[in-house]
Amino acid sequence: MRQIHHGPMTGRTVLVTGGTAGIGRATALGLATMGARLAIVGRDPGRAEDAAREIRAAGGGQADVFVADLTSQSQVRRLAGEVLERLSRIDVLINNAGGYWHTRHVTADGLERTFALNHLAPFLLTSLLLDRLEHSAPARVITVSSHAHTAGHIDFDDLQGERSYSGSRAYDQSKLANVLFTYELARRLRATSVTANALHPGVVSTSFGAEDPAGVQRLLVPFLRPFMKVPAQGAATSVHLASAPDLKEVTGGYFAGGKPRRSSKRSHDQAAAARLWHVSADLAGLTTDPRV
Ligand SMILES: NC(=O)c1ccc[n+]([C@@H]2O[C@H](COP(=O)([O-])OP(=O)(O)OC[C@H]3O[C@@H](n4cnc5c(N)ncnc54)[C@H](OP(=O)(O)O)[C@@H]3O)[C@@H](O)[C@H]2O)c1
Repeated sequence: MRQIHHGPMTGRTVLVTGGTAGIGRATALGLATMGARLAIVGRDPGRAEDAAREIRAAGGGQADVFVADLTSQSQVRRLAGEVLERLSRIDVLINNAGGYWHTRHVTADGLERTFALNHLAPFLLTSLLLDRLEHSAPARVITVSSHAHTAGHIDFDDLQGERSYSGSRAYDQSKLANVLFTYELARRLRATSVTANALHPGVVSTSFGAEDPAGVQRLLVPFLRPFMKVPAQGAATSVHLASAPDLKEVTGGYFAGGKPRRSSKRSHDQAAAARLWHVSADLAGLTTDPRV
């Protein structure tokens, strides 16, 4: 096993949700080779251990495994409790886990699954870990959104797609929610040394959406795969946001291709961001904290 004693991320602890596969696993590997201590979250203990073994081999350091289904709020709360018990510091939280479903699914909490996993889970997990992030500051919260956010619209009258559901509408809405959440979080953390940024990883060849794909996706993706980024390329912007020294104080940004980009007009709607925050706190059963 290679031991990395002095890398640019040595001494930093990074928690990556969805660190067992795809972009998240490549992000964890990239940061481990820079010397970070990694902690990953996934649903399946076998897949998570397999990823952790590869991360340990790449970085030589520790790789902690946390098992939780992030579509369940009770599991997010249990996860946060375990993280607080086992990780004395969190320098970087990467909200990466996400999914797409062509048909509507309902979680144990009675919420639509895309909204629950892609938006509410990062919202709740970040809120529950915020004290530890502040305690570890300077710290960074990174949320993996998508260029798909530009097509997104927050339908406050039908957030859960009960009246009408489309996989792409639910996904685009959740990815816009990631950017609105990031900007609102950055505003709320202005007086702290915890930053919040969102990103688009590119179009990346992973298992994304494979559980319940749209017909067109099933037909086209095999032909498009050769033109897609490989996971390590898709992880580059997450790795950059987690590690670049010159981004230490950069907050409230949206990045793609390693560079700051302008996100959609709707993502800059502060009233919508504040409203989404309150609705999310309500749905996640969070009592209002003046800071968050
Ligand atoms: N791929 C792309 O082209 C693309 C483009 C734009 C944005 N993105 C975004 O990038 C992020 C990562 O996507 P990816 O392409 O790497 O997808 P992926 O290959 O499907 O990986 C998803 C990861 O999330 C975890 N995960 C899924 N459901 C979970 C749940 N309920 N609880 C806990 N963990 C869960 C999976 O772990 P287990 O299965 O082991 O639980 C896996 O590690 C997503 O937020 C996606 O929206 C991807």
